[in-house]
Amino acid sequence: MKIGVPKEIKPQEGRVALLPEQVENLTGDGEEVFVQKDAGLLSGISDQDYSAAGATICQTAAEIFEAAELIVKVKEILPAEFDLLQKHHILLTNIHSANDRPQLDQLLKVGLTAIAAEDTHQFGSPNCPLAGEVGAFEGVRLSLAHHGGTGRHFMSHFGAPVSKAIVLGLGHVGRGALRTLLSLGVEVVGLDINPGARKQASLDWHNAHFRADDIANLHDYLGAADMIFNCVMWPKHRNDHLIHRSDLARLKPTAVIVDISCDEGGAIETSRPTSWQDPVYVEDGIRHFCVDNIPGAVPISSSAGYASALLPHIKSIAKHGVLEACRRDLWLAQGLNCVDGILTLEEAARVQGRDFTPAAEILNK
Ligand SMILES: NC(=O)c1ccc[n+]([C@@H]2O[C@H](COP(=O)([O-])OP(=O)(O)OC[C@H]3O[C@@H](n4cnc5c(N)ncnc54)[C@H](O)[C@@H]3O)[C@@H](O)[C@H]2O)c1
Repeated sequence: MKIGVPKEIKPQEGRVALLPEQVENLTGDGEEVFVQKDAGLLSGISDQDYSAAGATICQTAAEIFEAAELIVKVKEILPAEFDLLQKHHILLTNIHSANDRPQLDQLLKVGLTAIAAEDTHQFGSPNCPLAGEVGAFEGVRLSLAHHGGTGRHFMSHFGAPVSKAIVLGLGHVGRGALRTLLSLGVEVVGLDINPGARKQASLDWHNAHFRADDIANLHDYLGAADMIFNCVMWPKHRNDHLIHRSDLARLKPTAVIVDISCDEGGAIETSRPTSWQDPVYVEDGIRHFCVDNIPGAVPISSSAGYASALLPHIKSIAKHGVLEACRRDLWLAQGLNCVDGILTLEEAARVQGRDFTPAAEILNK
């Protein structure tokens, strides 16, 4: 199969979908891999490294989309890439269709098959822990006084209290945030709806400044927090929130909200996605950090995890064809967003008022 790896065009996105190691594996199987010039630069990989692994280097994105059937990327298809899509393409990338009507319009109009990589990871997305770890690091940075923060240190000095954080959601991202915060010495309350998640975090961090509590008690902690991290995956159809606009008045004016989930109008009513170029905005006097590609800040590490997680899926698609690969692996099938332009993702259908055909119906034909 002809596999294309375009260079990511989202501002300050340094990740790349495949490293030379995966390219070598695929070319060893007899697949052809096309990599766009400089695609790996910010992940520390040169075009020569890709050539040595057996890839053909293409000068432009247009050449990649023309040459390849399977397009493997990291981020969503952005408007500048819309016209490059073709009906015979199989797209494997992070898509987040339910949140992005223009992108989904285009995928359906072109009539291609698309798989959302974010939904294909049996053991959680490899970049989620990283997003929590780096997002928490940014929160600590923003808690310093010269950034407008509360000015509390994350370590105890001379009896002065350490900074306090709330982590909402103790899943892959939330546990990543705990790793950074608790390693530094921050005092953390972790809130989750799931007793199992609370229990596991309590066991993991029994010897740190950590307590887990039910999300129902969130309001007890808001007033004392220097940093609030949102790591809850908020269902797209929900119109309620965990932190409402009116709650912002209860926070310290120097507190910062780091919304790692960054669903617009999701768990945090006042959140909207931002970029590394302009990561923070102020809403009702409270700073919000809502960068939606946090792992892009550590591309060397995040590309390695992402590429190795995608490789088995790519190999299977190349060997069996996309539909048979989905029949053989329910995790891959779970990522199907559309097949030949037919929407298969119920969540996007529900949020955007579209018709859909369950993927199982197509796969069982
Ligand atoms: N900004 C970024 O760059 C970036 C990167 C990776 C992931 N994310 C986002 O981070 C979010 C979290 O991902 P994850 O992999 O940790 O998800 P996850 O499913 O592993 O964890 C979510 C946690 O939230 C808890 N939860 C669900 N509903 C809740 C509620 N109402 N109240 C309290 N807790 C609740 C769940 O029990 C679970 O423990 C996702 O939305 C994901 O898209 C963002």
